Amino acid sequence: MAGAINATDASKRYAVVTGGNKGIGFEICRQLACDGVTVILTARNEHKGTEAVEKLRGLGLSDHVLFHRVDVTDASTLSSLVHFVNTNFGRLDILVNNAGVIGLVANESALKTPEERLLNMMGAISHNYELSAECIEINYYGSKRMTEAFLPLLQQSKSPRIVYVTSGWSKLENIPNEWAKGVLNNVESPPEKLDEVVNKFLEDLKNGSSKEKEWPSRMSAYVVSKAAMNAHARITAHKYPSLQVNCVDPGYVKTDINFNTGKITANEGAQNIVRVALQPEDGPSGLFFDCNKIVAF
Ligand SMILES: NC(=O)c1ccc[n+]([C@@H]2O[C@H](COP(=O)([O-])OP(=O)(O)OC[C@H]3O[C@@H](n4cnc5c(N)ncnc54)[C@H](OP(=O)(O)O)[C@@H]3O)[C@@H](O)[C@H]2O)c1
Repeated sequence: MAGAINATDASKRYAVVTGGNKGIGFEICRQLACDGVTVILTARNEHKGTEAVEKLRGLGLSDHVLFHRVDVTDASTLSSLVHFVNTNFGRLDILVNNAGVIGLVANESALKTPEERLLNMMGAISHNYELSAECIEINYYGSKRMTEAFLPLLQQSKSPRIVYVTSGWSKLENIPNEWAKGVLNNVESPPEKLDEVVNKFLEDLKNGSSKEKEWPSRMSAYVVSKAAMNAHARITAHKYPSLQVNCVDPGYVKTDINFNTGKITANEGAQNIVRVALQPEDGPSGLFFDCNKIVAF
């Protein structure tokens, strides 16, 4: 599955990136590898993942990249990766929770340009329950699962870091529901409270009361999933002061998630993530970086 790098070494750094086969994730892998980090590029699709690794090897990064299949919704693929990292490296230095979906579909009929398709998606008020549940499962539970699975190996690193790839949509100001906002804004909330928030959101969506219960009216599953993910990052940062745990909004990046309507390249977006992943040892934790600015959650 993975390739032939097998040299546990205190001077090396080991990173895992989810959703590394394309878009921002692929660029994060490339930039970390260019910095000398040994990167385990993960993807849910084995063929796409190995193709991405081959592409990086073609760029002269063979000594720094390998592949492991991970679907962040499938706990067995995570355990297999944890086992692989533990056996080969004995620790993890950097985890980038990048995999994500938007949780919406555009009504394609009569839509001509990528911008029209994006606006149509974002304007959709009555969201599809299955897609919303999938979005929560991938963006929130997927990141949470990855972090929890790797905490023991991160604690073996002398300078462990976790970066959660977030979005400006995840700001708490976009969640009118005061109870949810209160839970998500409290770094001492027990983690199971976050599950309660996303479950309540899905329950209200299912029974048609999301407007009355004051959930976001636009991009609701994306907003709630990323806000819950951020809250998980803050709780982890608070609970484990020896780890650097931060959320980074890469900017509005031209990738498949927005029909390539973004304004900056994946290379530029990934630089915002990698800068935080490679902060000095005394760098800050528990923060939200909007590109390179620290902002409020
Ligand atoms: N583009 C932007 O403007 C922007 C702005 C703010 C935040 N972000 C965030 O940036 C991250 C990367 O997105 P992107 O813009 O690079 O979009 P993208 O090109 O669509 O990439 C999304 C990646 O996530 C992977 N993924 C989805 N579900 C997965 C799962 N269950 N398990 C493992 N991997 C999974 C996808 O794999 P497949 O190829 O198999 O689908 C793909 O590799 C996302 O978290 C997104 O929310 C993007």
